[in-house]
Amino acid sequence: MEAKTAESSKTILTDLVLPSETNPLNNLFGGELLARMDRAASISARRHSRRIVVTASVNHVAFNRSIPLGSVVTIEAKVSRAFKSSMEVYIDVWIEDRESGECIKANEAIYTFVAVDETGRPVSVPEITPETKLEKQRFEGALRRKQLSLVLAGKMNPNDATELKALFS
Ligand SMILES: CC(C)(COP(=O)(O)OP(=O)(O)OC[C@H]1O[C@@H](n2cnc3c(N)ncnc32)[C@H](O)[C@@H]1OP(=O)(O)O)[C@@H](O)C(=O)NCCC(=O)NCCS
Repeated sequence: MEAKTAESSKTILTDLVLPSETNPLNNLFGGELLARMDRAASISARRHSRRIVVTASVNHVAFNRSIPLGSVVTIEAKVSRAFKSSMEVYIDVWIEDRESGECIKANEAIYTFVAVDETGRPVSVPEITPETKLEKQRFEGALRRKQLSLVLAGKMNPNDATELKALFS
């Protein structure tokens, strides 16, 4: 399978924050943002693999900045690294300033998707070729994050998480 660029999986989802999607402080409800990120990231993983994809894990979410009612929210998702059947997708969330149009980074998250066949069995996906400095940074850290996720899920023995252990040696 031929490797693909991270850029070719880029997916952008722009939408408003409506009253039914907010918490009592009139900020976007966390679960609503998780769902929007899942949607954008799954499209990104599908664009990379051209297969059915399922969310395997949500590895990291940082709700750094609240997103007020009426905001224009842009979610950008890109596959940062592909392994055998799994893909790490990096998600950046931006809010657009109403007057200046400037985009301010609000949140980021990392999800893992797995490409599957019609029976739900994992299938192989193409590799990723990172191009930009940021894509290369994210690619480099992805194996460590995959090992951490597998250890936390009880699917990997910590002793086998060599990349993760190297952080502490
Ligand atoms: C995700 C799923 C296909 C993995 O199946 P599995 O039997 O664990 O398959 P495998 O052990 O072969 O793992 C497949 C890949 O997923 C990766 N993976 C599985 N669990 C993971 C986790 N928690 N974190 C990171 N990667 C994970 C494995 O490392 C493997 O990656 P690789 O092929 O790139 O090396 C299966 O658990 C599933 O279908 N889950 C439900 C998905 C779903 O419905 N999501 C929506 C939630 S409502």
